[in-house]
Amino acid sequence: MTTFPDGFLWGAATAPHQIEGNNVNSDFWLAEGRVPGMERSGDACDSYHRYAEDMRLLAGAGLNAYRFGIEWARVEPEPGMVSRAELAHYRRMIDTALELGVTPVVTLHHFTNPRWFADEGGWMGERAVDRFRAYVEVVTGILDGVPWVCTMNEPNMLALMTMMARFAADPELAAQWQSPTVDEGVRPVLPDPDPRIGRRLVEAHHAVRDLVRERTGAAVGWTVASQALVARPGGEEKLKELQYVREDLYLEGAKGDDFVGVQSYSSQWVNETGIEPAAPSPDNTLVGTAYRPDALGIAVRHTWEATGGIPVLVTENGIATGDDGRRVAYTGEALRHLGAAIADGVDVRGYLHWSLLDNYEWGHWGPTFGLIAVDRETFARTPKPSLAWLGEVAGRNALGSGPASVQAAGGDHQGVADGVAQSHRVAVGRVGAERVVLHGGP
Ligand code: BGC
Repeated sequence: MTTFPDGFLWGAATAPHQIEGNNVNSDFWLAEGRVPGMERSGDACDSYHRYAEDMRLLAGAGLNAYRFGIEWARVEPEPGMVSRAELAHYRRMIDTALELGVTPVVTLHHFTNPRWFADEGGWMGERAVDRFRAYVEVVTGILDGVPWVCTMNEPNMLALMTMMARFAADPELAAQWQSPTVDEGVRPVLPDPDPRIGRRLVEAHHAVRDLVRERTGAAVGWTVASQALVARPGGEEKLKELQYVREDLYLEGAKGDDFVGVQSYSSQWVNETGIEPAAPSPDNTLVGTAYRPDALGIAVRHTWEATGGIPVLVTENGIATGDDGRRVAYTGEALRHLGAAIADGVDVRGYLHWSLLDNYEWGHWGPTFGLIAVDRETFARTPKPSLAWLGEVAGRNALGSGPASVQAAGGDHQGVADGVAQSHRVAVGRVGAERVVLHGGP
């Protein structure tokens, strides 16, 4: 039996662009229309209108926390022009969560920027930090009652996306793009994010941290994509080098925060030359990563160490699979590893599963991460058994070896194989000699 601390948060996470629909003023919406092979987000899950139903399903299943985001492109459609109506919309979302007894965990930036911000040079533009600060200042006005605020989602992935956006804007490099859809094989290794962009994001995070604290009293942090890198014999030095540029720069940036968000999906081996791509396997997930539920334990332990002991909130963990039994098996196993880290002294405050809904996976609809299926035409929500299962775990605040996990651990491997054949879709382009992923998550 794995037990969790009193007051543990149990919930699920989403991001505005992936679920709301019609985020037309954002830079990602623009990219969707330009990059060959990228599917459009369109109406997404229409959660802009259906958020209350989503939260009711979450609360009804027994979960007590919901991580969702505020979309900058809606709040500030033009520089300095603030939409009061959009602020009121997000305030209604916060109120809905509070009325349902659900703790809101609010993200202020989840990958997408207003188009005008991108036009100004994006995160490397001269005014970037001031612009972000001004937006955050406005948003603090609606955060009353929100106990957890994430300033930015995965700055290490955002740094990579910023790099890619700059490549795409260069006509010569853009001409070298290949179709972003790969239907075969495993996901290529992501390139290292440019540390200059990383340092700019750290600066932006530090520029708003105290502002949010002072104006709201919320615990403030940011969330880092963990790759749970592990050295092969002989790969120890390379591991340190890669860990720094990919994660630790950002974890160091979290020092002085109230918490750090851990986002973990899979693990990767590092040998003396670099990261090894996941070996082809029918067990790989729908985004081509290895099935590694143990990654979560590796991730929280590394994060705890690298930040010097900041409280951890698992802000994302999940699996892209068409087989919900597989999702339960993965999550149960991940939670056992999380429980072991807690037993060893890591201060973990909660677990938020990615994702509440089958949503728009940054260029693709194929990889399904949700606890709830969504009909793309009617927007009807159909909870999967994993939602009820996670709700039961939440209710017990413990993970037993109950029937759900036993049955799921048996898993339907045929379902997994079918899923793998059906979609290995990640957004890939070719820049120079390097094959790069536009985005597909960690
Ligand atoms: C992101 C999510 C994404 C998920 C799965 C994380 O990189 O924060 O937006 O959907 O991983 O790929």
